[in-house]
Amino acid sequence: MEHKGFTLWFTGLSGSGKSTVANIIEKRLKDGGAKVEILDGDVVRTNLSKGLGFSKEDRDINIRRIGFVCGLLSRNGVIAMSAAISPYKAIRDEVRSTIDNFVEAYADCDLDTLIERDPKGLYKKALAGEIKGFTGIDDPYEAPENAEIVFDSAKQTPEESAEIVWARLVELGMIKP
Ligand code: ADX
Repeated sequence: MEHKGFTLWFTGLSGSGKSTVANIIEKRLKDGGAKVEILDGDVVRTNLSKGLGFSKEDRDINIRRIGFVCGLLSRNGVIAMSAAISPYKAIRDEVRSTIDNFVEAYADCDLDTLIERDPKGLYKKALAGEIKGFTGIDDPYEAPENAEIVFDSAKQTPEESAEIVWARLVELGMIKP
């Protein structure tokens, strides 16, 4: 499989399928011999962004750091994937402007479904007021208007969503299977 160095930037609410779909794509890419790294919000916050909270300022720092690393990787031929909520459009666009091959994938899933699934129990806590400033509940999420890719984990299985992402990456010339 031939591919470019590029950044696949997932954005979407907590539980919307960013990491799940990123992991499926990662496996397919690795099976094809590609070098891939995932920068997952939950993981990055235990090392690169350890100590940062969820204020707008801290989220912006988190996203800029992830974007910086994605840029370094993708300019060296690696496929970098970000799987962080990245709720603010301006910072996503700022990161986009610094990376040559930047592909945004919006995990669009309705809130009711996320609240119903709630595998980490965080929406329940946020709705009960036990977590303040939770994205989608009492903190903003600015959906992208021109994402290269949109998938919906309320309507698709993870494999179906991954197929949509994969097909679009081929269409955009990022990968040549
Ligand atoms: S981001 O806003 O800076 O992009 P990031 O993706 O790194 O967020 O982290 C989101 C994860 O942190 C969520 O999936 C959830 O597990 C956890 N989390 C804890 N507190 C919050 C909060 N207030 N808002 C959103 N996610 C939170």
